[in-house]
Amino acid sequence: MSISGKKILIAISGGIAAYKIHFLIRDFVKKGAEVQVIMTPDAEQFVTKLSISTLSKKPVYTDFYSDNGTWNSHVELALWADVMIVAPCTANTLSKMVHGMCDNLVIATYMSAKCPVFIAPAMDLDMYMHPSTRKNLEMAESFGHVVIPAESGELASGLIGQGRMAEPETISNTIDHFFNSHQEAQTLQGKVVLITAGPTYEALDPVRFIGNHSSGKMGFSLAEEASKRGAKVILISGPTAQTINDKNVELHKITSAKEMLAKVFEFYDTIDIGIASAAVADYAPKEVAKEKIKKNDENLTLELVKNPDILKTMGEKKTHQFLVGFALETQNEEDNAKGKLEKKNLDMIVLNSLRDEGAGFKNDTNKIKIFTRTEKKEFDLKSKDEVAKDILNFVEAQLLK
Ligand SMILES: Cc1cc2nc3c(=O)[nH]c(=O)nc-3n(C[C@H](O)[C@H](O)[C@H](O)COP(=O)(O)O)c2cc1C
Repeated sequence: MSISGKKILIAISGGIAAYKIHFLIRDFVKKGAEVQVIMTPDAEQFVTKLSISTLSKKPVYTDFYSDNGTWNSHVELALWADVMIVAPCTANTLSKMVHGMCDNLVIATYMSAKCPVFIAPAMDLDMYMHPSTRKNLEMAESFGHVVIPAESGELASGLIGQGRMAEPETISNTIDHFFNSHQEAQTLQGKVVLITAGPTYEALDPVRFIGNHSSGKMGFSLAEEASKRGAKVILISGPTAQTINDKNVELHKITSAKEMLAKVFEFYDTIDIGIASAAVADYAPKEVAKEKIKKNDENLTLELVKNPDILKTMGEKKTHQFLVGFALETQNEEDNAKGKLEKKNLDMIVLNSLRDEGAGFKNDTNKIKIFTRTEKKEFDLKSKDEVAKDILNFVEAQLLK
């Protein structure tokens, strides 16, 4: 498996080798990885956010707090990542990492990370050989992190010895090797999986619509994960900022519920698994005004008509397909979800409750419960990528029954 599509979190700390990180970022981006960079406040003395964000194509975070009164979530950054690389890792940052001294965004993110962590130390030879650094590197390895050893040669100080950060090419090869040796089992090889994602927009007039806050993240994570497992994926998505670049995923963009229904049934007979994660609007305006509706009266009354129920129609027309629905509930969650499972003739339903913090539409995380007619399983709050794995593991287990 290549690095393409992988989410790489790079944490830069305040060492002279930080200048080399530009080459590493370029290399990862060229190979199709998504790169998010965070830096310690001291790292800003060595490289600029501007140059880094230009190469990584994402904003660079150095602080918990943003100027606009919001904060940068170390938890979301950490859960997003497939791997975290601390490079260059200063003696100071290394020490904070292994001792849990959580006083900046880099350390808080590191301590929240569940993904594999790679450390590329860089420092002058005496600092590198100091017993405290030796001990801290040993501790980092005992935590399961991979230390990419510093190389020998001329150091920025003019001294010669071991302490130079590994070359970007070496770091990149290490990460490549990691992903290659962690190839996911092709458990969905030969299967066709149809996934609906995102919101639908129901036009009111040429410029307005009725929609919802669905980001499409859950559906896109499912598509990515199903593809990794060898499935051919048909992803039918409403308007969303999500993108996907995966040769096994055929993305079809639609706008309204009616368009989604039509697209689903172009493929329905050919699919093995259907996962309906889209937040389809239940109602649409009865009439779509030809011209922009003018602001005249105090009140405007809209007449809405029911949209087709895509999932119910899929359930009614089911022959061999394994059907998974989603329920987003705010009250009587379990009963409503189980009711939907029956009414719509589904095989499995994934419930997320808006009452759970971190679950639902806009978050990168989700907390779910899965129901079949005979089983119930509850999961912890996880990144949507991890939730996608749980859902597909569950589907695969059902298919084997
Ligand atoms: C010019 C210069 C170069 C430095 N290079 C390194 C280095 O390569 N490795 C290191 O561990 N510290 C280096 N330091 C010291 C760190 O910048 C210092 O320990 C700082 O507190 C690190 O903060 P951070 O780990 O939060 O980024 C350097 C300092 C200066 C002024």
